[in-house]
Amino acid sequence: MGVPWAASFGRDRELAALRRLLDQVRRGGRAGRPGRAILIRGRPRVGKSRLVEEFIERAGVPHVFFTASAQPTTETDLRLFSEAVLTSSLPAAAVFRDQTPRTWDAALRLLAGCLPDEGPSVVVLDEMPYLIANDPGFEGICKSFSTASFPGARCMWCASARIWR
Ligand SMILES: Nc1ncnc2c1ncn2[C@@H]1O[C@H](COP(=O)(O)OP(=O)(O)OP(=O)(O)O)[C@@H](O)[C@H]1O
Ligand SMILES: [Mg+2]
Repeated sequence: MGVPWAASFGRDRELAALRRLLDQVRRGGRAGRPGRAILIRGRPRVGKSRLVEEFIERAGVPHVFFTASAQPTTETDLRLFSEAVLTSSLPAAAVFRDQTPRTWDAALRLLAGCLPDEGPSVVVLDEMPYLIANDPGFEGICKSFSTASFPGARCMWCASARIWR
């Protein structure tokens, strides 16, 4: 008999830190701005993606997990993002079936409408630097959405990026 998989995962400190942030989002945050945005940076294959997957699985909240990849254009990034939202557990994800956003600003506005008001949700942008490579404005758009543009949304944003040092 082996050790149960969940118990052997480790990363207790990191999972607890993510859990604390999600609890802050759940409680409603400061000044009517419950949203939180975090960036997870680490060397290739250190376990960034698995950490977030494990966190989401344990948290059991509505979420979208989008893994960016080396695509030729922002248009392709947006199509793949829309597909990820459509197959996600966000309550109103179906709006992405009728509309194809042409900019990240439009995509995140549409996403905002899919997030539940009553409880926390998580948006994961794994491998975010690929999105910035195609659209240098992406990071700024993302930042403004995660903090200001929809202050009512109880959303935790997790982005990941590789570093080589
Ligand atoms: N805590 C863990 N326990 C056991 N295996 C793990 C753990 N974390 C990650 N792994 C395994 O290590 C490998 C690399 O993990 P992962 O893909 O999450 O790394 P990453 O940092 O996201 O890599 P990349 O920079 O290439 O995106 C995967 O096979 C994953 O299943
Ligand atoms: Mg990864």
